[in-house]
Amino acid sequence: MNRFEGKTALITGGTAGIGLATARLFIHEGARVIVTGRNAETMKAAQAELGENAIVVRSDATSLPDMDALAAKVKETFGKLDVLFVNAGYGQFVPFEAMTEAIYDEMLNLNAKGPYFIVQKLVPFMSEGSSVIFTTSLANMKAVPALSAYGAAKAALRSMTRSLASELLPRGIRVNAVNPGPIGETDILQKVGMPEEAKDQVYVQMAQSVPMKRLGTPGEIAKAVAFLAIDATFTTGFELPVDGGWSQL
Ligand SMILES: NC(=O)c1ccc[n+]([C@@H]2O[C@H](COP(=O)([O-])OP(=O)(O)OC[C@H]3O[C@@H](n4cnc5c(N)ncnc54)[C@H](OP(=O)(O)O)[C@@H]3O)[C@@H](O)[C@H]2O)c1
Repeated sequence: MNRFEGKTALITGGTAGIGLATARLFIHEGARVIVTGRNAETMKAAQAELGENAIVVRSDATSLPDMDALAAKVKETFGKLDVLFVNAGYGQFVPFEAMTEAIYDEMLNLNAKGPYFIVQKLVPFMSEGSSVIFTTSLANMKAVPALSAYGAAKAALRSMTRSLASELLPRGIRVNAVNPGPIGETDILQKVGMPEEAKDQVYVQMAQSVPMKRLGTPGEIAKAVAFLAIDATFTTGFELPVDGGWSQL
């Protein structure tokens, strides 16, 4: 299938995990893609893997000046944007009583404020038929201990999915979200400083809570993103759970 032939896409947080798997799929189906990240080593590895149809750009998803620079890059390289996958994010595991203002602000900035403004910065390059996809999280509908600030930020993102879908509808731009359950093969737990042993334990526990009794893969999320981006032409304001049944059963 070449659903993305002639299409351009921007994927924030596209150098690892879900974003990288999505970049791989989009490129495989014909897209040219800009992916963002911050870590130099991961960026280099992603560029080597994704090849000439990808441009890996250093851009902090919480920085509005970085977003302006990214918009300039999209204008200069592609001139237009068909798919904006707003995916960069993570959750710090902090019990409620230990939460600090700094971590709370970081969670809200990265997972809600940043996604809101990047759409505002990029939408001038998007035309009728293009689409935005946010990555939310199961933590926005289920209580996950120690993820209260992250869950609240992802709930805000679910709300923005509806609001922006409504505001961008007259321009023919669809806005949807993918809501992953626990996904293996990502860097998300290392990133928040979880030791290897604790990480394995968390994964085992999470898999037990999933009705399908396993973790999802980044590739399974990527397929859902491609569906929302290209095939779901009569769908907007929707959040698609890809979670082994956890939110529904
Ligand atoms: N993995 C799961 O189980 C799971 C479940 C539900 C939702 N999610 C959501 O899925 C999305 C992707 O997570 P993942 O599991 O694929 O994580 P991952 O493997 O850690 O990848 C995260 C990506 O985001 C980038 N990133 C993180 N903070 C950034 C920042 N401030 N600015 C720019 N880039 C940043 C990372 O690059 P750098 O490291 O270079 O910054 C990396 O490319 C996140 O929004 C996460 O909240 C994940």
